[in-house]
Amino acid sequence: MALLRFLLFSFFCTLFVYQCHGACAEVDSDTEAVAGKGFKLGCISCKRRSEVRGEASVEWYFRPKGEADFFLMYTYNEDGPTIESDQFVDRVDWNGSKRSRDIQDASIYLLNVTFNDSGTYRCFFNRILSYENYEYNDVVSKVVHLSVVGKATRGTASIVSEVMMYVSIIGLQLWLLIEMIYCYRKIAAAGEEALREAANAEYLAIASESKDNCAGVQVGE
Ligand SMILES: *[C@@H]1O[C@H](CO)[C@@H](O)[C@H](O)[C@H]1NC(C)=O
Ligand SMILES: *[C@@H]1O[C@H](CO)[C@@H](O)[C@H](O)[C@H]1NC(C)=O
Ligand SMILES: *[C@@H]1O[C@H](CO)[C@@H](O)[C@H](O)[C@H]1NC(C)=O
Repeated sequence: MALLRFLLFSFFCTLFVYQCHGACAEVDSDTEAVAGKGFKLGCISCKRRSEVRGEASVEWYFRPKGEADFFLMYTYNEDGPTIESDQFVDRVDWNGSKRSRDIQDASIYLLNVTFNDSGTYRCFFNRILSYENYEYNDVVSKVVHLSVVGKATRGTASIVSEVMMYVSIIGLQLWLLIEMIYCYRKIAAAGEEALREAANAEYLAIASESKDNCAGVQVGE
């Protein structure tokens, strides 16, 4: 029970930290989309020093599978989002940082994914960092290789990690159980010992008491 509570507790802590404003973690994007469904293309670039003021604009490029060149498909800057390619008209939503020019999450959401969307995506952060006396221009780019499938499949990594999770949970529970049994037996043994000692003490006490009595009687005689 305690273990379960502890696990839940750590789970919620993790969730909280993840959602907490200012915490930034560069999580890799998923790479497998299902045709006809939506898909979030993840792209996160954390500022190395979060206290430095920054502004960023974002560009997404796409290279269809089997082709040689990237083309611009989406931009997000001070003018807001723009879909730059006919292939993606009405099919891209911004899933990144909201209400801030200091973009660290530039993820986008593809609607109604088609097989033609498989290929390589590349996001660029054009970031201006404002230090006290100067500005620093930083360009970061990330790549996502997307494959589109007809039905969702599960990667081996996810299966392995699920199995590992069960193994570790069961292992921990067993360990807890063994520890409890061990402790219980130790306590029980200690209790018996104490009882025996108490009985001995009582016997001695009675013995000495009766001796005293005898002595008393003898004195009385
Ligand atoms: C991303 O955008 C899609 C479409 O607008 C929306 O359904 C989804 O909830 C968004 N996800 C996040 C994490 O913002
Ligand atoms: C996406 O698919 C749904 C259901 O199939 C359809 O109603 C919607 O119009 C499609 N949206 C776009 C932008 O193609
Ligand atoms: C995918 O691309 C092919 C070739 O460019 C085109 O004929 C087809 O209509 C496209 N399919 C979709 C769903 O956009």
